[in-house]
Amino acid sequence: MLNEIESIHRAENVALDRVLRRVLKKSGLAMPRGSSAGAPGPLQILDLACGSCREAGTLVEVFRDFEGADRDVRLVGADIRDRELEEAAARARLVGRTRDQFEFLTENCAKLDRHRELGRDFDVTFLRHQNYWNDKPVWQRIFEQGLEKLKDDGLLVITSYFDREHELALKALERAGAELIITGQNEASRVLDTPGKSVDRHVAVFRKKR
Ligand SMILES: C[S@@+](CC[C@H](N)C(=O)[O-])C[C@H]1O[C@@H](n2cnc3c(N)ncnc32)[C@H](O)[C@@H]1O
Repeated sequence: MLNEIESIHRAENVALDRVLRRVLKKSGLAMPRGSSAGAPGPLQILDLACGSCREAGTLVEVFRDFEGADRDVRLVGADIRDRELEEAAARARLVGRTRDQFEFLTENCAKLDRHRELGRDFDVTFLRHQNYWNDKPVWQRIFEQGLEKLKDDGLLVITSYFDREHELALKALERAGAELIITGQNEASRVLDTPGKSVDRHVAVFRKKR
């Protein structure tokens, strides 16, 4: 039996799944092929500032079977806060198909270039509820680092809680070297107690500027 909070999170993830599939389909972009240096491998998602990463299972599902495929998907989540990551890892253990499908790293995502083992061959960089307006210089760096970690044909996807915060992040990402492909609204976004705030209210998809 799910408790109330779990049911709410589950409904949010169902809404996130729908809006991601709709926006990705509408973008007309092909999924990156999930191979590294020419060798076949899982599609790799880098979830930055992931907190407790409640979306981990949803992201794996969306990218696994998008366009009728059945891809292996691996997700690496990073955040500066340990406690949230412990929660993320515990949840991921319940849904992971293999032991190494999920990995969580305590990192300052504005300084990911220091983490050389992380590689620069991610297919997708995801940032749920980016927090650009809270600390613009730090988030500008986080956006730049998220793009740096992508393959040339990789996608960067953000969600935002607020309209204005979303607009500011779109501009910041363009300054960071991203090309906006599409931005869309989540029609089933759960309204929160702060005026104008709702869960995954906006979703936008970028690729690296060519
Ligand atoms: C608005 S919360 C979003 C969390 C999560 N993505 C979600 O949707 O629930 C912003 C997150 O950014 C993280 N954060 C802030 N600055 C960071 C940094 N420099 N490096 C890594 N994570 C950071 C916080 O710890 C927090 O988890």
